[in-house]
Amino acid sequence: PAADPRALAELAERTAAEAGRVAAEGQEGIGVLDTKSTPTDVVTEMDRRVEELVRKRLLEVRPGDAVLGEEGGEEAGSAGGVRWIVDPIDGTVNYLYGREEWAVSIAAEVDGEVVAGAVVAPRLGDTYTAVLGAGAFCNGAPLRAGPAPAPELALVATGFGYDPRRRAHQAEVLRSVLPRVRDIRRGGSAAIDICSLARGRADAYYERGLNPWDWAAACLVAREAGLRVEGLHGAPPSSDLTIAAGPGLFESLHAMLEPLGADTDGPA
Ligand code: IPD
Repeated sequence: PAADPRALAELAERTAAEAGRVAAEGQEGIGVLDTKSTPTDVVTEMDRRVEELVRKRLLEVRPGDAVLGEEGGEEAGSAGGVRWIVDPIDGTVNYLYGREEWAVSIAAEVDGEVVAGAVVAPRLGDTYTAVLGAGAFCNGAPLRAGPAPAPELALVATGFGYDPRRRAHQAEVLRSVLPRVRDIRRGGSAAIDICSLARGRADAYYERGLNPWDWAAACLVAREAGLRVEGLHGAPPSSDLTIAAGPGLFESLHAMLEPLGADTDGPA
């Protein structure tokens, strides 16, 4: 079927809402099922179950689409179709600890560009949606980011990878950033952190090591709300480094992070 971005956004939202309900019902008493890159990079039973549910629902409606998911990897689709990018639970560590900041994130990509997305955080009661060129919404209300403050007055959110060497360098970068900004937040869900910039819950976000499923939907929400989301030197957001902020603050943060080697894991 032809890919109407609004229809894709509705499907993403509906599917993320159902997946979020299932995950919320199963949060209490959840334990670690498996680990990935390190012993602290965990997978719960719910990450897998929710991703399977999301894949099933998307392909029921749009058989032949491709799906890239955090847990199940890439499933090829037919040529020219939509590629869905899915994080069943972004904020898995929060989820494991019974905290509320986690979300189901679903983005629809057409010809390499994300055209629709939904980030649903059931325990916060927040649903973010966006359609390329047609705006971003939180719980149905349009999102428009306000003017960005000067860096010394900015609340800057960030996140850390799981690899110890990367984390050690991220701590070094943070050591330089912290005295130059209002304060730092580490919310534990990049998708929520990036979406909620548009509501003024923080002024900027940066992280090295994010994966497409962490930022694909949130990046469209933030951009459609008027924020810049990029890597260094105009590169697209990537696992090297992703920076999100309003115009002005974005450039200041870029100028702060680049000389610190925030896009590297530090000296070998
Ligand atoms: C993680 C979260 C976290 C970020 C990590 C991600 P996950 O995703 O988005 O905020 O700092 O880099 O891996 O593993 O909970 O889906």
